[in-house]
Amino acid sequence: MFAVADTLKKNRKRWKTLPAGERRENVEYLMTLEDKEFYKLYLHYTKFWEKERGWEYEKYSETFSGRSVLEIGSGLGYDGIIYSNSAEKWVFCDIIPENLQFIQRIADYLNVTNVHFQLVEDVINHDFRYMFDGFYAHGVLHHVPFEVAQKEVANIDRFLKPGAKLIILMYPYERWDLCGKPPFDEFGCMTDGEGTPWAEYYDELKIQELFGNGYCLEDSIKWGDQNAEFVNFELIKR
Ligand SMILES: C[S@@+](CC[C@H](N)C(=O)[O-])C[C@H]1O[C@@H](n2cnc3c(N)ncnc32)[C@H](O)[C@@H]1O
Repeated sequence: MFAVADTLKKNRKRWKTLPAGERRENVEYLMTLEDKEFYKLYLHYTKFWEKERGWEYEKYSETFSGRSVLEIGSGLGYDGIIYSNSAEKWVFCDIIPENLQFIQRIADYLNVTNVHFQLVEDVINHDFRYMFDGFYAHGVLHHVPFEVAQKEVANIDRFLKPGAKLIILMYPYERWDLCGKPPFDEFGCMTDGEGTPWAEYYDELKIQELFGNGYCLEDSIKWGDQNAEFVNFELIKR
């Protein structure tokens, strides 16, 4: 059995450094930059995200159009900033305050007003305060052991309306297989570099088990390097 507190403690340390452009950047460092340099760098990063995730932005802007969306693990937040253009409301949630402060600074700069921010201190009991008809977790839930993710999802379920659309990015089985099926505490270092405490693969059976019978898996899309780098699961709450 895995202790939730231990997993979260490790993730809070690791995920202050996030994918940003051609490398990874520490959010505490980014927040020390003067406005001009800060926004210039952010605009530079967006070019990489657009290149990698442009197809997602096109597809999921439509999926989330007019919806009130909960995002967990928002990182540096560019995806949510894009989707907030078509969504009614976007709620950024993260376990690290500095990550949320970074997005708040960008949202202020871009004058994005239909966004909210919530720091999640207790991932299995957090009160998200609103009911949502959209949910987004991009590269998040595979960074905790399945048992922890299941508890986190059971809590999130309380805040999703029937008909809610969910987009969840995970690492596919094929990526784990190509790495030689390592233990998940070693797989994390292979996918996201030194110090990454955990990464798990997901396939269709496992995502269905994570969300349970209350959710219907509508599609799964493998993409990235050799079509084995990422998998997007598209679900709907019954
Ligand atoms: C790999 S980053 C992904 C960031 C962003 N979603 C993206 O696609 O670029 C993982 C993010 O999830 C957050 N996180 C890690 N574990 C979490 C958990 N159990 N629940 C919610 N957020 C978590 C981290 O602080 C970090 O911002």
